[in-house]
Amino acid sequence: MRAIVVKSWLKGPSDMEVKDIPIPTPKDGELLVRVDSAGANFFDILMVQGKYQIKPPFPFTPGAEFSGTVVKASPSDPRFATGDRVFGSNPTGAYAEYIAVPSIQCFHIPPTLSFEQAAGFYITYPTSYAGLVLRAGIKQGDWVLVHAAAGGVGIAAIQIAKALGAHVIAAVGSDSKFELCRQQGAEHCINYSESTWPAKALELTSGKGVDIVYDPVGLVEKSLKCVAWNGRIVVVGFAAGTIESVATNRILLKNVAVTGVHWGAYVRNEPERIPEVWDALFKLAEDGLIKPVVYEPVFSGLDRVKDALSAIAGRQTHGKVVVRPSELPLPKL
Ligand SMILES: NC(=O)c1ccc[n+]([C@@H]2O[C@H](COP(=O)([O-])OP(=O)(O)OC[C@H]3O[C@@H](n4cnc5c(N)ncnc54)[C@H](OP(=O)(O)O)[C@@H]3O)[C@@H](O)[C@H]2O)c1
Repeated sequence: MRAIVVKSWLKGPSDMEVKDIPIPTPKDGELLVRVDSAGANFFDILMVQGKYQIKPPFPFTPGAEFSGTVVKASPSDPRFATGDRVFGSNPTGAYAEYIAVPSIQCFHIPPTLSFEQAAGFYITYPTSYAGLVLRAGIKQGDWVLVHAAAGGVGIAAIQIAKALGAHVIAAVGSDSKFELCRQQGAEHCINYSESTWPAKALELTSGKGVDIVYDPVGLVEKSLKCVAWNGRIVVVGFAAGTIESVATNRILLKNVAVTGVHWGAYVRNEPERIPEVWDALFKLAEDGLIKPVVYEPVFSGLDRVKDALSAIAGRQTHGKVVVRPSELPLPKL
């Protein structure tokens, strides 16, 4: 099969090479999946450079999210059969034509989602659901300010907040993303590259401020200027590249709760909450209330992974960036 193979730390994604390697043999408890689509993430860039927290042994194939068809089921997991449409995640291996992956890291694709939409469902949606519901205790009628609203977790947060009856203000880095955010359910859009954005958020909430700030960027300090009494600020990520130091007096003055969400760590720390989150998401997907937005164009062929990752690094994308590893139908195994 064809796969991206990394044999030493690279300068960047443009140094990635596509090689012919054997199809992986699934171990006990693993499914062999023919990859239809792979979700691209900024951390893929860091991983091939050796700058990410996970440093796989060489050689490895990057790519952490996928959707595809089961070609070899696992005798120890009767939930999956050959031919099933699945999506899932693994620290490595998705930028390939086939992936062997523990079945517990896979789900069936809801009938309402395509392979391309499902490829980016595994990380973004549960992160945003856990952030808004488990951490911020979102309620009907809350005002939610979503930063990086046109990105992967941002679009998921808009859709989930809207589905749960909240009002959404989408904050993005350019006005060209306003229309997309409105289509996802945002009532108002603001541009955080303009310094007046906290004042605008206050104005939109008649001076009261927003009840929840969902922050994948690193805008806690400024968001404290437009958060309401008893507001909740959810720290999701640091897309702007710096980790903030915050003047804690503002947290006290407005009775604010600043909380983090680290979805990937629920497996280790609170596994009992995971089915609750997925059950809720599958119900929302089946009701058509959430639907991943796939960035166009979808990148076709493993040679295009570098272009997909460059587009993410260049801040040119919205929604979820997806790569289809095979340009042609794969032969039957
Ligand atoms: N805590 C968790 O469990 C968890 C889970 C998933 C992701 N995350 C984190 O959440 C963040 C967003 O992830 P994502 O998947 O939504 O990423 P994404 O789709 O690549 O979106 C990131 C967005 O951040 C915005 N941004 C603001 N300042 C930026 C800067 N200086 N450079 C680049 N982008 C900037 C950009 O939108 P504008 O151009 O509109 O500003 C960009 O579209 C990442 O930091 C990621 O690590 C955390």
